[in-house]
Amino acid sequence: MSLAQESKKYVIQLFNKSDLSKIEVEYNLKHSEYIIKAVQELSKEYSKLVDIAAWFHDVGKINGEDNHAEKSLVIVKDFLKDKNLDKKDLELICDCVLNHGTDKIPATEVGKAFQAADKISFLYAKMAKTYVDLSIREGKTKDEAKVGALRMLDGVYSKVKPDFKQFAKEKYESAKKAIESLA
Ligand SMILES: [Fe+2]
Repeated sequence: MSLAQESKKYVIQLFNKSDLSKIEVEYNLKHSEYIIKAVQELSKEYSKLVDIAAWFHDVGKINGEDNHAEKSLVIVKDFLKDKNLDKKDLELICDCVLNHGTDKIPATEVGKAFQAADKISFLYAKMAKTYVDLSIREGKTKDEAKVGALRMLDGVYSKVKPDFKQFAKEKYESAKKAIESLA
């Protein structure tokens, strides 16, 4: 099993043992999947290190939303301590995990793409549809779920930094259309 696959498995175990609901866990995992996709599209420097960062970056939420990036960093560092990673590779993962929040300035190119991807991941039409499906499973009506998804899309899009706005725009617009046209 690759280190990226091992990371995913480990994070799923941590999420499943946590107080987060099944729906929250499912949404978190989908979010990580779409971060990987977005960084692949955004950065020529994409590597499997990004996958590791993506699986771990929000896992700190199992111990509460506050400062979750710092909490995730502790967890990923502990997981990687005996994996013989190059110092540079480890630093890249840490840059992505620690600095994914909007107010931070990542040190690396990949870290910057990762930070943008943390937002843009939600702007894929399929991800927005997942939001609607999960909201309905949580007990919302279809209309409420659609309104919630559109609000989510606006909120996320507004947080995308200028350098990535153009890239995000197309996804944002097609996701909006996809949600609006849901029967
Ligand atoms: Fe995230």
